[in-house]
Amino acid sequence: MVKVAVLGAGGGIGQPLSLLTKLDSRVTELSLYDIRGAPGVAADLSHVNTQAKVTGYQPASPKDESQLQKALTGCDIVIIPAGVPRKPGMTRADLFKINAGIIKGLVTGVAKFSPNAILLVISNPVNSTVPIAAETLKQYGVFNPEKLFGITTLDLVRAETFLAQLLKINPAEVKGKISVVGGHSGDTIVPLVQSTPLGKQVARALSSDQYSKYINRVQFGGDEVVNAKQGAGSATLSMAYAGYRFAELVISALTGTPSYDSSKIPEPAFVYLPGLVGGKAIAQQAGVDFFAVPVVFGAGASVKTVINPLEGLTGSEKKLVEVALKGLKPSIKKGEDFVKGAA
Ligand code: NAD
Ligand code: LMR
Repeated sequence: MVKVAVLGAGGGIGQPLSLLTKLDSRVTELSLYDIRGAPGVAADLSHVNTQAKVTGYQPASPKDESQLQKALTGCDIVIIPAGVPRKPGMTRADLFKINAGIIKGLVTGVAKFSPNAILLVISNPVNSTVPIAAETLKQYGVFNPEKLFGITTLDLVRAETFLAQLLKINPAEVKGKISVVGGHSGDTIVPLVQSTPLGKQVARALSSDQYSKYINRVQFGGDEVVNAKQGAGSATLSMAYAGYRFAELVISALTGTPSYDSSKIPEPAFVYLPGLVGGKAIAQQAGVDFFAVPVVFGAGASVKTVINPLEGLTGSEKKLVEVALKGLKPSIKKGEDFVKGAA
């Protein structure tokens, strides 16, 4: 029995993500909320013949909280893809102005109406929206670091796809063998390949120039989609897939029906390290509180422990981490300050 809410369900990510969630036989209720279009998407999805009961909620005015309350009450998992996407020429940080307020507002709803839910934040800039979510939950006294995840899975999906192309193998053969840690924008994204089981194969197959181009392609993969869409938005379908891939891990942990054992192949998410088993040491080593690290789920889909991805890195991977940390620190602070009233 799992109730999932998607906030921003009428959007480019929200719609296909809601479809994928509706297809999961373990989901019994799917609650769709958006300031525009959620009831229509819910009516449409409700005809799909899986057990999840789908309901759609749209507020009557910006002050109307009743619909958000209905959408969130009793939720086990809340996924947030609400907010504006990039256009060509913009960075994810440019979205802060609009999306910071949207995230603060929606997470306030989560704090009030579903404080025990597991929260997956997709909205950009993830490097700031997750600190915003954490601070908002703290203000309401309901912050549980084990239940807050910034979704960086699309970086891993891209890393797997692009590497498989270069190695001329099936992407399934790469799944679970590499990792992507750090943040979710440009050079804060740190693909880890050299220090993984595929490291030797990659060293044999790729010249150092090909390796650098590969790292750059993973870091700036979002731009490829933004530019190809020519102003019509950013990645939606691949993001819906990636968002569901992470949500699926959470659903598996919640229901005890693992189709993918997170202790065997931990996948990364952007988390608040000081509050997690195994996280404090990483936070001290890295000098940041938020970082995407591989997560192992425990009972109730809370984090059991996180894996330190900074151990055993190659020299060039260490350099990638250094660069990422420089970019991450101000983005994290900007998010925290936004809620504390200092930004
Ligand atoms: P979109 O514009 O197609 O959809 C966003 C939806 O959010 C719209 O339906 C809009 O009505 C809704 N919305 C806006 N304010 C809201 C509010 N206060 N409450 C509820 N709903 C609200 O955009 P999209 O392409 O779906 O992208 C959404 C966000 O996800 C963007 O910020 C984008 O940058 C981000 N994104 C993140 C990743 C990632 O890897 N984490 C990947 C792709 C996109
Ligand atoms: C992505 O990585 O595709 C998303 O963060 C959307 C974007 O703005 O590039």
